[in-house]
Amino acid sequence: MIFDIKDTDSYGYIERVKSVVFGKNKYAHVITLGCQQNEADSEKIRTMAAMMGYEITDDASLASMIVINTCAIREHAELKALSILGKFKEKRREDPDAVVALVGCMAAEEKVTEKLKNRYHQLSFTLEPSQLHRFPEMTYRALVEKKRSFALGTESFDIVEGITPHRASDYRAWVSVMYGCNNFCSYCIVPYVRGRERSRESSAVIAECRELIESGYREITLLGQNVNSYKSDMDFASLLEAVATIPGDFTVRFMTSHPKDASDRLIEVMGKYPDKIAPHFHLPLQSGSDAVLKSMNRTYDTSRFLSIVEKLRRTVPKIALTTDVIVGFPGESEEDFLDTLNVLEKVRFDMVYSFIYSAREGTLAAKMENRIDEAIKGERMRRLLKLQDGISLEKNAEYIGRVERVLVDSPSKRGDDNLYSGRTLTNTRVHFTCESCRGGEFVNVKINRAGPFDLFGEIRKEKEND
Ligand code: 5AD
Ligand code: SF4
Repeated sequence: MIFDIKDTDSYGYIERVKSVVFGKNKYAHVITLGCQQNEADSEKIRTMAAMMGYEITDDASLASMIVINTCAIREHAELKALSILGKFKEKRREDPDAVVALVGCMAAEEKVTEKLKNRYHQLSFTLEPSQLHRFPEMTYRALVEKKRSFALGTESFDIVEGITPHRASDYRAWVSVMYGCNNFCSYCIVPYVRGRERSRESSAVIAECRELIESGYREITLLGQNVNSYKSDMDFASLLEAVATIPGDFTVRFMTSHPKDASDRLIEVMGKYPDKIAPHFHLPLQSGSDAVLKSMNRTYDTSRFLSIVEKLRRTVPKIALTTDVIVGFPGESEEDFLDTLNVLEKVRFDMVYSFIYSAREGTLAAKMENRIDEAIKGERMRRLLKLQDGISLEKNAEYIGRVERVLVDSPSKRGDDNLYSGRTLTNTRVHFTCESCRGGEFVNVKINRAGPFDLFGEIRKEKEND
């Protein structure tokens, strides 16, 4: 069900916490780990904290509210969250009014929550992603009732509207369009921690984008775990088209897509609005072996994947393609791995995000017996990186001599105010010097040097390439 936060109990709790906190100079500090969905969720947490009377700070030592928004996709991400939590061991002893919360995907794992409750006494509460709107209630219980709570209400997968994000940037914005995932790829914990797919109403998404564009936002990223399986009164291709046709000077991106939903119509829409829809497609491959893809439950094979790539390149000639690959999935033979390298050589992605397989309890793959030795995983990873770094460097070298439209980010913090970076429409980072640039403006940059991950150039007055 979709409902507004104003119609929930949360509103009452916001008022109650506010009456305790307001005027006392209390600060909240939110730490975000993981994906863009978490970045977007953290913006809503900051909104709720501000509504309750907290000021938002980047300085944890000032804060009497600490929120760690966690990721569960790999073990490493969980260890990182626990180490951050460890830093706040004395927080509640030092300040009896302090609230320390762990939210996000880790909070949706029952066993993890149990461990957090018993071993991390500094923790006031946990809250899983589908329950974020209950943040004010949990704060109230911790702050006023002095009760620790460990919510696991994973049965309800509603959408709560009406929490205007406290956006980190005033020119780039995330707009969530759908939540959750139904795919159950055998290695992935996301469907268990973020629940079933549910889409926002298209009118709410379009209105939010229109408002952002009217207030000067230059880049909108439509977000979802499985963004292109968006489904309400329209499908994702139509939603993207509706956003692309809002008047204004902006670019729209989207992530993350599943190849099964990379429809012809979506590709056509991308081709139809080359000035508005960023020529970039993040299309996770995961493996180049059909046997491994089957065991991953990815529902496509390499030939289907390659045909999508071919269609994308034919329809959007300037398109940049990026992907995710998992190395060392259970049962991955040397031949399977070579098949993956082969697909990387065939496609020549601009960038590959590669991950060593990490078993996640509760997933199907975690029960598979033919695990790959850690040393072999590491060795395969090094071979993959070596191959892809060469390809990425060659792909980036193709930009040399071209003039690219770049959305400028705020100046680098390295002390040199004239040193800027930004991103091309294809989403590649570019470094350049500029006398009078502002974060959030589009500029033209002539590219004169390329590395595997970045481009380097100089500001130009002339128009970008056709
Ligand atoms: N181990 C390693 N990588 C994983 N990913 C998802 N689950 C796992 C796992 N258990 C990767 C996939 C996905 C990306 C966001 O993280 O490649 O696309
Ligand atoms: Fe995980 Fe697969 Fe869903 Fe992506 S599509 S979130 S990899 S289950």
